Amino acid sequence: MADANQVPALDSGERLDAPGLRALQLDRLRAQLRHAYENVPFYRRSFDEAGVRPEDCESLADLARFPFTTKADLRENYPYGMFAVPRDQVRRVHASSGTTGRPTVVGYTDADLSMWADMVARSLRAAGARPGDVVHVAYGYGLFTGGLGAHYGAERLGCTVVPASGGMTARQVRLIEDLRPRIIMVTPSYMLTLLDEFERQGVDPRGTSLEVGVFGAEPWTEEMRREIEERFGIDAVDIYGLSEVIGPGVAQECVETKDGLHVWEDHFFPEVVDPVTGEVLPEGEEGELVFTSLTKEAMPVIRYRTRDLTRLLPGTARVFRRMEKVTGRSDDMVILRGVNLFPTQIEEIVLRTPGVAPHFQLRLTREGRLDALTVRAEARPGATPETREAAARLIGSAVKNGIGVSVAVEIVEPESLERSVGKIKRIMDLRH
Ligand code: DLL
Repeated sequence: MADANQVPALDSGERLDAPGLRALQLDRLRAQLRHAYENVPFYRRSFDEAGVRPEDCESLADLARFPFTTKADLRENYPYGMFAVPRDQVRRVHASSGTTGRPTVVGYTDADLSMWADMVARSLRAAGARPGDVVHVAYGYGLFTGGLGAHYGAERLGCTVVPASGGMTARQVRLIEDLRPRIIMVTPSYMLTLLDEFERQGVDPRGTSLEVGVFGAEPWTEEMRREIEERFGIDAVDIYGLSEVIGPGVAQECVETKDGLHVWEDHFFPEVVDPVTGEVLPEGEEGELVFTSLTKEAMPVIRYRTRDLTRLLPGTARVFRRMEKVTGRSDDMVILRGVNLFPTQIEEIVLRTPGVAPHFQLRLTREGRLDALTVRAEARPGATPETREAAARLIGSAVKNGIGVSVAVEIVEPESLERSVGKIKRIMDLRH
C-alpha cells in the first residue's frame, strides 16, 4: 500500500490558501471570458444573445449570468470552429469517438499540453506516485485522451512510463510481471479484465509489484474499489476528466483520504446546476457538473455542461473543493416505469452478492408499451445452482427494495459476458 508520507511536496497552486485561490480564479476567469469572446465567434454570439460582456464578470458568482455551452454547440462547430487561436498554433487534437453522433474535436497549444501534463502529474502525486516510479498506462492511446494524457503527465512527474495502451490482455500481464510497475492507470472495468487474465495464467494478482491504481474514464463505485483493492492488494483511487475540458486530470482523489476527487480549481472552475432549470445549486446538492476552463488557449470552454451527476464538497486533503464520485451521466440514466436507475446502483448490488462475479450487463427491452430491464450477472466459477438461484433472488429483491422497481435477473455462465478493453458499455438497449 502507498505511504502518504512519502508523497513529494505540493506545487504552488496546491499551496494557495482559500482567499488566494478565489482571487486567482477571478483574474483567470475574467481573462478567459475575454479570450473566448474576442476569438471565438460562437462565444461572441452566445454572450451577445444573453446580453452579457466579459467585463460584467466582477465576482465568481457573476459567472452564473453567462450562457451554457453544450455538446451540440461543439458538434455544430466541428471541426475547428471552437478554436480561439490560429490553427497553426494548435499542436495536437483529440476527438471523442462519435458513437453518439458527429465527433467533437478538441485542440491544444503548447501551453495547453504543458498545463495538462502538470495537472496529470499533480493527480499522480496525489494518488501516491512519485518520481522514479514505473507507471503502466493501459488507457487507450490515440484520439481518446486517456493514454496520451496519462503518459505525458507521468513523464512530467519524472516516472518511467510503459505505454501499453488497451488490449492484448495476455501481454499486459507479462509486461506487469517483467517491468514491475508500481502504478497502473487504466479503466476500472479493464482492470477486472486483467484480473481474469492473471488468474487464467495462474499468476497471483496480489503478488505483483503494483501498489496504486489510478482508475477513471467511467463511473465506478465504492464496492468496485473494495473488490479491486482486495483482489490486487493495491490502493485504488479515482481520476476524472473529459476531453472537452482537457482529458484526464481535471480532478483526482488523494490516496491519503479517498474521499472524493479534488477538482484542480486553479485551472477548471466547477459549478453544479439543476439539470432541468440550469440554476446553480449550493455546495452539497446533487446536480449536473459544469466546467469553465480558466487557462486554456486553444479551446476555452465556458460553462460546459458535462451531463455528469455529482455534488461539490469542501476541500480536505487540499484547498480545492471536492466532487463526489460521479453517480453516472444523465444519458446513462434508465427511466423504468417512472423510476430513475443508474448502472452504478446495480454495480453496488451485484458486487455485494455472493456467488456472482463483478461482471454484469443491463438489457433494456420493450414488452408491449412497457420497458423492461434484465440484469445479467455472471456466476463465479464453481457457484452451485442453488447459489445462483439465491443470487438471482438477492439481486432482484435488492433492486426492488433499494431502487423501487422490479427487474428480471439472469445469472449467466462464468466468462460469458463480453469483457471491457476500455470504457465499458453497461446498457444494451434492445427497444428499437
Ligand atoms: O474519459 C478522460 C479520462 C481518461 C478520464 C482517463 C479519466 C481517465 P472522455 O472520453 O471525453 O474523456 O469522456 C468523459 O467520461 O464526462 C464522464 O462521463 C466519464 N468519466 C471520466 N472520468 C470519470 C470518473 C475521458 N472518474 C466522460 N468517474 C465524462 C466517472 C468518468 N465518470
